[in-house]
Amino acid sequence: MATEKTFYLETFGCQMNAHDSEKVIGTLHQQGYRQVESEEDAGLILYNTCSIRDKAEQKVFNRLNDYKKLHKQGKRFGVLGCVAQQEGEKIFDRAPHVSLVCGSASYPKFGELLVQIENGGRHVTGLSLDTGETFDTPFTRRDNPHRAYITIIEGCDKSCAYCVVPFTRGPERSRTAASVMEEARRLAAEGYSEIQLLGQNVNSYRDPSETAWDFATLLARIAEVDGIRRVRYTTSHPRDFVKPIVDAMDANPVLCDHVHLPVQSGSTRVLAAMDRLYTRDEYMRRIEWIKNAKRRYSLTTDIIIGFPGETDHDFQQTLDLLDEVQYDSLFSFKYSPRPNTAALQMEDRIPEDEKQRRLLTLQEKQRAIQIRRNAELIGSIQEVLVEGRNQALGQWIGRTSCNRTLNFSHPDTGGTDLSGTYLSVRVTRAGPNSLVGESACVV
Ligand code: 5AD
Ligand code: SF4
Repeated sequence: MATEKTFYLETFGCQMNAHDSEKVIGTLHQQGYRQVESEEDAGLILYNTCSIRDKAEQKVFNRLNDYKKLHKQGKRFGVLGCVAQQEGEKIFDRAPHVSLVCGSASYPKFGELLVQIENGGRHVTGLSLDTGETFDTPFTRRDNPHRAYITIIEGCDKSCAYCVVPFTRGPERSRTAASVMEEARRLAAEGYSEIQLLGQNVNSYRDPSETAWDFATLLARIAEVDGIRRVRYTTSHPRDFVKPIVDAMDANPVLCDHVHLPVQSGSTRVLAAMDRLYTRDEYMRRIEWIKNAKRRYSLTTDIIIGFPGETDHDFQQTLDLLDEVQYDSLFSFKYSPRPNTAALQMEDRIPEDEKQRRLLTLQEKQRAIQIRRNAELIGSIQEVLVEGRNQALGQWIGRTSCNRTLNFSHPDTGGTDLSGTYLSVRVTRAGPNSLVGESACVV
């Protein structure tokens, strides 16, 4: 009797990676593999990796080292995703027990590569970046029963000086609008009520077929799909974030009350060095469109601290930008030099302790802003999608359209699970990172 084929998969990095893993898992199931919960139980051990910052990259090499001994038991190892693409065959030198190295642009061939390692292939690679294809499979195994991800565009054609993504995910490829719409309709029919559109730069989406929809048009159409109650998208590039996107959002509340618009720096001089293709003023114009819109939208961003040459004055401009915009939340990172990128050659590196000091200053300022922004919601009624229950607190966990976690009490349901339902909740308290409330529904 043939032995059962099993795999373990751990995912690092962004939402795109998480969704790639859902598709890879679908392909593995299709080829007769069963997923297991630990490296020890698996015949095939896969890591879907991230290389956005050095720390993320180190994680995979630590894992490979930790589990190296399992190779003697005949287990196979595969490195997928961004570190695979970036390091390529060098991974075999550093970790000779690895049999498969495959970047995301080669996932359409993932099934074939699996067969090669099953047939004893020692150093199997999928590293080509010149694929015109997107990885689009009907076998996707979805993690969340209510929210589904749809990739609309892969790769990135920008060349931000700090960023490894154009090297790890290759050039931009948009999926046809017909296949995106078909997937959205199918997901709605299967009971998913929230769709999240994914891409490194969703704003530059352009339907490659004759209809040639742009991103704003696609958003508007997806929001009209029967059964879809919420649509989110990530991530945006300010240069390609045009006014019709805000107009489309205003026109249909299915498009959630949230815009994530990564700014990276508040200094036009640093933005130019980063090759971000917009000035602070141009960024602020987009913020004005959003602030002058019909609904109140949550605004969130990404910021990099300590880019080469960032002066105290530049940093102060980033702090001032926080005061001006009043973000609802932000992700902040210390600049991390990445292979192949333009910034690698730049002089005037900021010392680690100075980066740390600036990061803490920024986070402290943002915390105060968030406490204020969240407190403004006390007394309001928010619709939440229930995501689960926190037994210890005796509360349900909900997510608002503006992407906040809202933990709330609700009359005893007699054991009925509210997950996946939409409820109105009155906000009663607010902290820096979440809200607390009570169900406003009459039961
Ligand atoms: N160093 C630090 N942060 C980075 N990011 C991207 N590349 C780097 C880097 N080299 C951040 C950006 C981006 C987010 C996903 O990660 O802020 O928006
Ligand atoms: Fe990490 Fe970027 Fe790759 Fe996502 S696309 S996994 S953030 S390097």
